[in-house]
Amino acid sequence: MVSKETAAELVEHATQAREKAYARYSNYPVGAALLTKEGQIFTGVNVENSVYPLTVCAERAALFTAVTEGYRSFEAIAVVTRDAGTPCGSCRQVLAEFGLDIEVIIADTKGEIQQITSVAELLPFSFGPDNLDSSDWDAG
Ligand code: THU
Repeated sequence: MVSKETAAELVEHATQAREKAYARYSNYPVGAALLTKEGQIFTGVNVENSVYPLTVCAERAALFTAVTEGYRSFEAIAVVTRDAGTPCGSCRQVLAEFGLDIEVIIADTKGEIQQITSVAELLPFSFGPDNLDSSDWDAG
């Protein structure tokens, strides 16, 4: 578990990021802040599209940015929405790829943490890298 201070810092980053959400169709802005094991924080927002299914969620935007920057080990992710909504099924699956033990901090726009859970709890009986024979995969 991350410290109270770290959780608050992640919520703050997610709250700030949320201001930049492109949520013109749903009017449901989401901000996420992902903490790497190395201590870096990557943020993400939902980016909607007039072709609705092309929308990318905030959690995946944060994760894809982190991976693009060379990070693959994650400690925690904070997600901020007006009603402290939890990550969607697709985001749970994408997070699970990088670790079932990633802590998931759910907060509202008042900065209140409503729930602290984990990817394992959000996605029980998950399918993941261990199901596939890719243990010797190396990007190098
Ligand atoms: N959304 C996220 O960004 N993350 C979630 O986990 C739930 C849903 C976004 C997608 C869409 O832009 C809006 O919230 C409403 O579904």
